[in-house]
Amino acid sequence: MTSNASAPLSAGAPWIVMKFGGTSVATLPRWQNIRELVASRRAEGARVLVVVSALTGITDALKQLCAQEDKSKRIEAAKMIAQRHYDLLDHMQLAVPDTLAVRLTELARLAEEGPAVLGELAWSALMQAHGELMSSALGAAFLSHSGLPTQWVDARDCLAAVALPNQNERTKLLSAMVEAKPDPALNTRLAKLGEVFITQGFIARESQGRTVLLGRGGSDTSASYFGALLKAQRVEIWTDVAGMFTANPRQVPGARLLQKLDYEEAQEIASTGAKVLHPRCLSPLREPRVPMLIKDTNRPELEGTVIGPEVREHAPSVKAISARKGITLVSMESVGMWQQVGFLADVFAQFKQHGLSVDLISSAETNVTVSLDPTENLLDSDAVAALASDLAKVCRVKVIAPCAAITLAGRGMRSMLHTLSGVLAEFGQLRVHLISQSSNNLNLTFVVDESVVDDLIPRLHEMLIAAGALRTDDSALFGPSWQSLYGSGEVVAAGDAWWRTESRDRLLQLGAEATPRYVYHMPTVRQQARNLKTLAAVDRLHYAVKANTHPAILRALAEEGFGFECVSPGELKAVMAAVPESAPLLFTPNFAPREDYAWAFGTRATVSLDSLYPLEHWGEVFRGREIVLRVDLGRGLGHHEKVRTGGSGSKFGLPVDQIDTFLRLADTHSVTVRGLHAHLGSGILDDKHWGEVYGQLASLAERIGSVAFLDIGGGLGVPSHPGEARLDVAALDEVLRKVKAAYPHYKLWMEPGRYLVADAGVLLTRVTQQKGKGSWRYLGVDTGMNSLIRPALYDAWHEIVNLTRLDEPATALYQVVGPICESGDVIGSDRRLPEAKEGDVVLIAQAGAYGKVMSSPYNLRDEAEEIILD
Ligand code: LLP
Repeated sequence: MTSNASAPLSAGAPWIVMKFGGTSVATLPRWQNIRELVASRRAEGARVLVVVSALTGITDALKQLCAQEDKSKRIEAAKMIAQRHYDLLDHMQLAVPDTLAVRLTELARLAEEGPAVLGELAWSALMQAHGELMSSALGAAFLSHSGLPTQWVDARDCLAAVALPNQNERTKLLSAMVEAKPDPALNTRLAKLGEVFITQGFIARESQGRTVLLGRGGSDTSASYFGALLKAQRVEIWTDVAGMFTANPRQVPGARLLQKLDYEEAQEIASTGAKVLHPRCLSPLREPRVPMLIKDTNRPELEGTVIGPEVREHAPSVKAISARKGITLVSMESVGMWQQVGFLADVFAQFKQHGLSVDLISSAETNVTVSLDPTENLLDSDAVAALASDLAKVCRVKVIAPCAAITLAGRGMRSMLHTLSGVLAEFGQLRVHLISQSSNNLNLTFVVDESVVDDLIPRLHEMLIAAGALRTDDSALFGPSWQSLYGSGEVVAAGDAWWRTESRDRLLQLGAEATPRYVYHMPTVRQQARNLKTLAAVDRLHYAVKANTHPAILRALAEEGFGFECVSPGELKAVMAAVPESAPLLFTPNFAPREDYAWAFGTRATVSLDSLYPLEHWGEVFRGREIVLRVDLGRGLGHHEKVRTGGSGSKFGLPVDQIDTFLRLADTHSVTVRGLHAHLGSGILDDKHWGEVYGQLASLAERIGSVAFLDIGGGLGVPSHPGEARLDVAALDEVLRKVKAAYPHYKLWMEPGRYLVADAGVLLTRVTQQKGKGSWRYLGVDTGMNSLIRPALYDAWHEIVNLTRLDEPATALYQVVGPICESGDVIGSDRRLPEAKEGDVVLIAQAGAYGKVMSSPYNLRDEAEEIILD
């Protein structure tokens, strides 16, 4: 540990404000890390103020508690929340400090009292504030105990919310604003108290003394407010990436770290898509000219992004490209509007009345088109429909959705239009609904159909930033790429898929014989299985057979030593028919009928439950059994809203606040909870996710006692676009090993599906017809959503190639469609392919997972047959 032997500070010593988010404060190792970082800043000769969020998951748990009408359930939930803090204190080997005990008593009291006394909003704000009040109390105890005497400061005594003209009670209490000007008195008051301080993010106090919340990005904003109040030397935001990047690294792994930005540029990049910083947290720092530094908690040696007042003198350039999806456009057309006084005022009054805020605007003689940004609006279709019907009284209205806004951000956009011809050519091929150039000269935005974005962003990045950065060699500005910092070095290259190389001729032959056909490449299945077997921390791997139940695949995975996760008797039977008796089986159903459980107990499967109902009503089925409990950790993740399986909007898992009731029921029926399970969703590429789930399950298991294994689910993603980074299996192992070191007494299980089979399968189809309609070109193939429903259901992007013409230049822009009588029967939009001819064999990639298994006989078109390539 760093010693705390630095010389005492003078009254005028500078301040450094350091902010840490929920995951950074959730475990003992993370607090040890914070301790080191704080000590190093103190050793620089600065006073340090640490601003913390609530422990990860606690704000959600508090929100759920607030939504609970049943008092006893609220009390139960408050107990669970308290327990999370006790567990962490236990790891720290600390007694409950008084500052925390006071909060916990208050939390329990508020949970019992309910909203009646304070009023719904004020009660909810105060409840939620407890997340930060508790984490900071816990942090003060830990830091002080580890040799850094730390004063606990109540942020509400320092941050006074201001009343704003457009506020209602909700915004006043739940997304308040603070006017933070340097406050020498506060500075002096604190300086007398000590050298290291800890306070809460996200909360403040309003003029009547009530606790208020600062809304989204609230903790970062708090850090900025404190930075301004104390006129700090700098504000440091510690997070899990090194800073702002030139594009979203998920879309563009080659995105470069932006090392220096001025406030305006950073604000522009934050407002147009970068998630690392909430745009509102920069403005408090501008006037006092306090710089902000974004740093990676896990890699403090990386430079990070510095955001400051200096506008750098260099040639104008595009610094970042971002995309915001889910944009809705409203196009209003009226011949009468030209020179008609008050037309726009009338129109905008309607937006105000429907509570919708307008983001971008473009106007022509007879048309005004505006965009509604989902981050600023509650965009339910009812609100938009009501607006459209009111607008229809004064003009012709068209609602265009879903769109995406692609923004090129950087200083001096106007003077670089001439360099953008290549970019404009890219857009020229697509439907651009609106172009807007911001009046501050910092951005240029194109609104296009949402479906083209994933494909377009990497190309634009290549043209504007990767190439430009090479030209200017501005290494002070563009730092290392995300890939070089965080990637495993393994990027999906366009050239390396099995179907492009050794199997291409065989596939052409198979396609010429008959289509539609699914073809599965067994060496790829085995290779993926072997990749996962390098996860040393995992004790048992199961294949989630819902992804693909072909017997050859089941057999191959059994040979690789996998168990099998099944969700229905049908899946269990398919597995039992294909694989040897020795392979372990899991039965993880959801809302299954009573007889499924009764039947499954007659097999060798380990059965899981995820609700109270079966034990409440069918106790005798479970009597004396060992089961797995699937819990809902309160949040979901995944490639699409429809594949996220956590949080109250999802039907899966037992909410954590019902665990105690579940255990009582289990006791009544002599049922033993042998395993805990959580699966948050599908298509996740962030290795840290499973570490968090693992840690949370382990801490729940500690309280249950009978648990022997933890199943952290599947969900391991595969990148769908060329150039995207693969899941880093070695990094995942590292993450898991760390948790395992803390909880060696539990076996660790996983149950991936997609990862094993997605890339191993392709769907072959043949060109039927073509059609031109306006500027659109449709390329028809002989199967569609009946064989592969993922594009229609999840907007999933599958690479599509014309296998017959793989080497010909891609000169046509096609909508690739199937023969099904549904407008949604589009397999790929805006695909650049060679000019096609009837009979060409078209290959749809990455169709091995959730392809054939989700197909249907709709329209009674021939079902795709399945072929195995060994
Ligand atoms: N475990 C449980 C409890 C699950 O519900 C699932 C998937 C898995 C494991 C396997 O997840 P994987 O590793 O394959 O992501 N049809 C959607 C995916 C739905 C996944 C359902 N549950 C798609 O095509 O993307």
